[in-house]
This record gives sequence, structure tokens and C-alpha cells, in this order.
Amino acid sequence: MKIVGTGSALPTKIVTNDMLTDFLDTSDEWITTRTGVKSRHVISNEKLEDLAIEAARKALDDASLKAEDLDFIICSNVVNEYVTPQLSCIIQGGIGASCPCMDINCACAGFIHALEIAESFHKAGRVNNVLIVCAEEPTRMTDWSDRRTCVLFGDGAGAVVLAPGNNIRSIKLSASSATDKLWQYRPLHPTPYITKDEQDVPLQMKGQDVFKFAVKAASKDISRTLEDAGVNADEVDHYLLHQANVRIISAIQDYLNQPAEKFPVNITDHGNSSSSSCPILLDECRRSSRFKDGDLIAMSAFGAGFVSGAVLFEW
Ligand code: ACO
Repeated sequence: MKIVGTGSALPTKIVTNDMLTDFLDTSDEWITTRTGVKSRHVISNEKLEDLAIEAARKALDDASLKAEDLDFIICSNVVNEYVTPQLSCIIQGGIGASCPCMDINCACAGFIHALEIAESFHKAGRVNNVLIVCAEEPTRMTDWSDRRTCVLFGDGAGAVVLAPGNNIRSIKLSASSATDKLWQYRPLHPTPYITKDEQDVPLQMKGQDVFKFAVKAASKDISRTLEDAGVNADEVDHYLLHQANVRIISAIQDYLNQPAEKFPVNITDHGNSSSSSCPILLDECRRSSRFKDGDLIAMSAFGAGFVSGAVLFEW
């Protein structure tokens, strides 16, 4: 397939590091040096579904396609206001499409998993035009009195439209059950029959373990993807990495031995917006005319589970 349109939408409320010091024992200096984040967009009066629909409409406009041209919609989402309905169904109704749709939850690696599903469905002859929307509000998952986690995240939605083409050169997905590193229990709604010990706690993360896992998994996924496509790291024009921490990005950059200019970063203004981070970065790069036709782009992301993946595509 080929990416023929991109779009994104962000909440209006911007929370700076200094604003967090009003209620947390933290500082702009700690957050900036340890993570690279200066501010993040956080949902206040908006609904995530409205951001998702706005991003989808922008991507369709950019692709010069109409909602009725779509054959499939995939939405990547970890949490929103509802358990059901699927966010993809809400997006389908919001943009006026009538095609089938599905939600996936691969946390931050959702965009790359969605690309693999779209590409595979297309190769199987099932779909031509596919809309992928990643819409996330990780700020809903964190405990806002826990300085170790809440400073990291931001909300937003990013979307792409895919049409037939030969631009995706390789995709590699991987998973490793390291479930004790990053987890959150679902809020309790016990039945009268549950007798096991269940808990109701917000996001918990072993930050240093996640950091090491992320660097290792992303370096390996990117190397496998390049090898599969017969491309060496120097031939790639842009590395768009999941925006979780600038130090993770620099460690992967060192591993690949590539110049920093090839690694666009927007975590400074967005924080980690889970699976939305890759398509938002893609949209911002495209709208700032960073890409030329034929440029090679490698993208990689890792998420809770842990699942991870990388893709190499031609612009
Ligand atoms: N402000 C001030 N001090 C803090 C803060 C804060 N916001 N958070 C932690 N600290 C303190 C700790 O309490 C600790 O103090 P202590 O030594 O007195 O105990 C000290 O800073 C160092 O803490 P570490 O956890 O060792 O700090 P580290 O350098 O590892 O940075 C971080 C923490 C930023 C979380 C880092 O480990 C990281 O980025 N990990 C990966 C996170 C990530 O990518 N998560 C998402 C991945 S999956 C997904 O995207 C859903």
C-alpha cells in the first residue's frame, strides 16, 4: 500500500512542566533532562472521539478521498471514555463511512500493527482504501500524584489513509511477554461471584526496565526490517521513532550510527501520546515539507506487553 493522506488533532489544553510543579514534587529541569518533554496536550473539555474524527477528516481531505471510498477503518486505542462501543465505529459514523471497522490495542505500537493488518488485507485482495486512526488519552491512565509516570504522557489523534501502491517495503512485528514492566488494572466492577484478589490501581511502570527493553527492541526491529528490505541504515532518509523519551531516541540513533538530523522529534511539545505519536509525527513532518518523493522512512514503536514493530516505507 501507499500512504496518500495524513492528519492529526490535539487537545487545546497545554500543560507545561512548570504547571506540574504546582502539585508535584518535580521540576522543569528534571523532566526536560530525563525525558525531553517540555509540555503536553491534555484532554479537558474535548472528547477523544472528536479528535479522532477531526484527524480522520484531515487525512481524507489530504488524500482527496471521500468517506464512501473507504473499504476499512482500523482504530488503535488503549483507553477512552467507553469500553464499548468501539472507537472505530464512532469514527465511521462521524465521518459518514459505511465500511467495516475494528479497534486494536497494541498500546504505543498500534500504528505499526495497523499498517501490517491493512497491508495484509490488501495483499489478500480484501481492501483497497484503508483509514487508520490512532487516538489515545494515556493521561486518563496515570495517577496524577505519581511524578514517575504522569509527567511522561500527552493526548492526541493521528490518522493516515492508505491506497494501493508498492511503497511499504517491509514490516516486522514482535512480542515479548514482559508483563510485569508496565501495567494497569481495570477499575473494579466485581460480580457477586469473584473471589480472587483483584486490585484497582493506576498505571505502574518500571521505568528503567522499560527504557532498556525499548532500546533493545527498537534497534532489533529496525535492523530486521532493513535487512528484509535489503537496505542499509545509511540509505534511510528519516527515522520516525515512537516519542517516549529523547534519551531512548538518542540511544537508538547511536546504535544505528546515524546523524541526529534524520530523527525528527516532537516529544518536546507532545509528551508520549502512545500509538498516536507516530502518525502525529508523520503528519507534522509531511506538513512541514520534510519529505521528498522517494525518501525512505523507517518507523519503530514499542508498547505495553511488550509488543513492538518497525516498518520501512517509501514516501
Ligand atoms: N521529578 C523529579 N524526580 C523524579 C521524577 C519527577 N517527575 N520521577 C522520578 N523522580 C526521581 C525518582 O524518585 C528517583 O529518585 P530517588 O533516586 O531519590 O529514588 C530519581 O528521580 C531517579 O528515578 P529513575 O526512575 O531512576 O529515573 P530515570 O532516569 O530512569 O528516568 C524515566 C525515569 C523517565 C521514567 C525513564 O526510566 C524512562 O523514560 N523509562 C521509559 C519510559 C517509557 O518509555 N514508558 C512508556 C513506554 S510504553 C508506552 O509508551 C506506553
